[in-house]
Amino acid sequence: MNELTQTLKTIHRKKDFYSGNVQLDTYLQKQANQDIKRKLSACFVLIHEDTNTIKGFYTLASNSVPQDWIPSKIKQKLPKAYSSIPTILLGRLAVDISFQKQGIGKLLLIDALRRCHQISKSLGSFAVVVDPIDNQADQFYNKYGFIKLPDSGKRFLPMNTINQLFQ
Ligand SMILES: CC(C)(COP(=O)(O)OP(=O)(O)OC[C@H]1O[C@@H](n2cnc3c(N)ncnc32)[C@H](O)[C@@H]1OP(=O)(O)O)[C@@H](O)C(=O)NCCC(=O)NCCS
Repeated sequence: MNELTQTLKTIHRKKDFYSGNVQLDTYLQKQANQDIKRKLSACFVLIHEDTNTIKGFYTLASNSVPQDWIPSKIKQKLPKAYSSIPTILLGRLAVDISFQKQGIGKLLLIDALRRCHQISKSLGSFAVVVDPIDNQADQFYNKYGFIKLPDSGKRFLPMNTINQLFQ
């Protein structure tokens, strides 16, 4: 199967990437490669094949959240002894401004969730967690069913829900 996204490489034109969010743009341009080298994060990009222009990117990293953060209805199913719950962090996701509002953000999100679904087959992971950078990002994830983790500003989608998307 052809992959939609690939790992960030030096040939990709990250300097030209502009999403309108300076934190995310600076991250891609200055920090993403270092995080990859240090094994802190993986970064996947959607590329315009002819020009190596980056249409969008996202990052994934191992993560955990305190069990206390999980809403009580979902927490009921978790063993009390597990004080922290293993998750995958979809840390950043952005689309270049010239490609926004064309469905690419949605495609990247589905691609990220598909990778998480695959990973969860060999590494226990209860949910995918996102940390929306602003209110707009929060709305974007809310639209796709991500549940609020109270008091943290984060949202999550249980892996069991994600698995149903890819069966
Ligand atoms: C948020 C972002 C990733 C959306 O990407 P995009 O390619 O423009 O989004 P899409 O065209 O795939 O839109 C998918 C759906 O999300 C909705 N959507 C897009 N941006 C949204 C926003 N800010 N708030 C609420 N909904 C949004 C669209 O209306 C669309 O819904 P539809 O399918 O019912 O029409 C993009 O605007 C971006 O990179 N913004 C700057 C960085 C950012 O905020 N990242 C968020 C994660 S940290």
